[in-house]
Amino acid sequence: MKIAMVGSGYVGLVSGACFADFGHDVVCIDKDQSKIDRLHDGVMPIYEPGLAELVGANVKAGRLTFTTSLAEGIKGADAIFIAVGTPSRRGDGHADLSFVYAVAKEIGESLANDAVIVTKSTVPVGTGDEVERILADSGTSHRFAVVSNPEFLREGAAIGDFKRPDRIVIGAEDDFGRDVMREVYRPLFLNESPILFTGRRTSELIKYAANAFLATKITFINEMADLCEKVGADVQDVSRGIGMDNRIGAKFLHAGPGYGGSCFPKDTLALLKTAEDFDSPTRIVEAVVKVNDSRKRAMGRKVLDALGGADNARGKKVALLGLTFKPNTDDMRDSPAIAVAQTLTDAGVEVAAYDPEGMEQARPLMPEVTMVEDPYAAIDGAHAIAIVTEWDVFRALDFNRIKDLAKAPVLVDLRNIYRPDDVRALGFDYSSIGRIFREA
Ligand code: UDX
Repeated sequence: MKIAMVGSGYVGLVSGACFADFGHDVVCIDKDQSKIDRLHDGVMPIYEPGLAELVGANVKAGRLTFTTSLAEGIKGADAIFIAVGTPSRRGDGHADLSFVYAVAKEIGESLANDAVIVTKSTVPVGTGDEVERILADSGTSHRFAVVSNPEFLREGAAIGDFKRPDRIVIGAEDDFGRDVMREVYRPLFLNESPILFTGRRTSELIKYAANAFLATKITFINEMADLCEKVGADVQDVSRGIGMDNRIGAKFLHAGPGYGGSCFPKDTLALLKTAEDFDSPTRIVEAVVKVNDSRKRAMGRKVLDALGGADNARGKKVALLGLTFKPNTDDMRDSPAIAVAQTLTDAGVEVAAYDPEGMEQARPLMPEVTMVEDPYAAIDGAHAIAIVTEWDVFRALDFNRIKDLAKAPVLVDLRNIYRPDDVRALGFDYSSIGRIFREA
């Protein structure tokens, strides 16, 4: 099978490389000449574990190529994936579809054979209909079908998620679309990954519903964590206790500083917009968005509390460990660290930060924060240390060294990566999420 992937960003590149690895012949297309040049040189535009090796191996095997020319790239392709960005439109939160539609138009104008056009980008309900209209309007004489095939890739685990998915969702309106997609995913189907065929609009909604549900789960446990702190309960045990119920499930019940990233914040907003447009309010998701937004600032206040309150914070120093919205990515989009840093610097706190991959992207977002080259440089002279992202390197910190370097042994663990008793036994003033300290 020949596959064209239009858009060589996160989703396009990971999907393209994985399809090539399954033995398909894949062309990744992107308008950005420098990105394509770098890909030719083996340089990845994003940090994703295992991606450089996967791309390298498939380029070497001749199954994966790159081009800036859409017309060239889609020639002979059985399936053409649209995997360009759908950022939140400024002002109303609606997904900005201008890139998707521009690509659809260009595909229509360049189509040289029958093909299935697949929207992989996260697009609101009805986008497939519009893409179909644009293609029809282009006057192409070739047979085409427009299919929705949402991605469910987690950053940092994207290759594994692609190769061993819980399910593949395909929204198609005709047999041509369904048959080609069955071939595209045959290698996974043989691995017994279930493929769910639905209508196109349903498939588009499944993606938003999945992300909104996961965001709700996280936000629910975060509120339970707040309640745990008030009533003297332990949120880790609450998560375990409810997660063992198969109807609830154990995943995405880890309390923390609030969800961030490229998907949940953007997709929940876009779902709200769709619900508003269709006059069918989704009040639970409305609440989730509000609660999560306010939580990020509240996490900054939690760090201020550890310093003795906002009134005592001015001139003190805090070490932020971890900046990205989660580990194993360099992605800073909607990371809680941004609001935490802002709350601290607003209160006159001096902030030094270390992140294994995210500092370059973080710098322009938090100009008042000093970025340093290792965790202990951040901790040097700090009155409090806050773990914001659960990178592995922070899981076994040298507490004796910290005691020597820091002005005070104060640790705020926003990801619950330590056990309160262990850290307190070392003489630390330790606070975390949803776990209060009770004297034995
Ligand atoms: C998510 C979805 O998981 C994926 O299916 C979709 O296609 C894109 O969005 P991603 O944003 O890469 O993936 O990361 P994910 O691992 O889902 O985490 C999202 C955010 O939720 C992070 O900020 C993370 O720290 C937070 N989170 C996740 C929690 O706070 N608690 C949890 O239990 C899980």
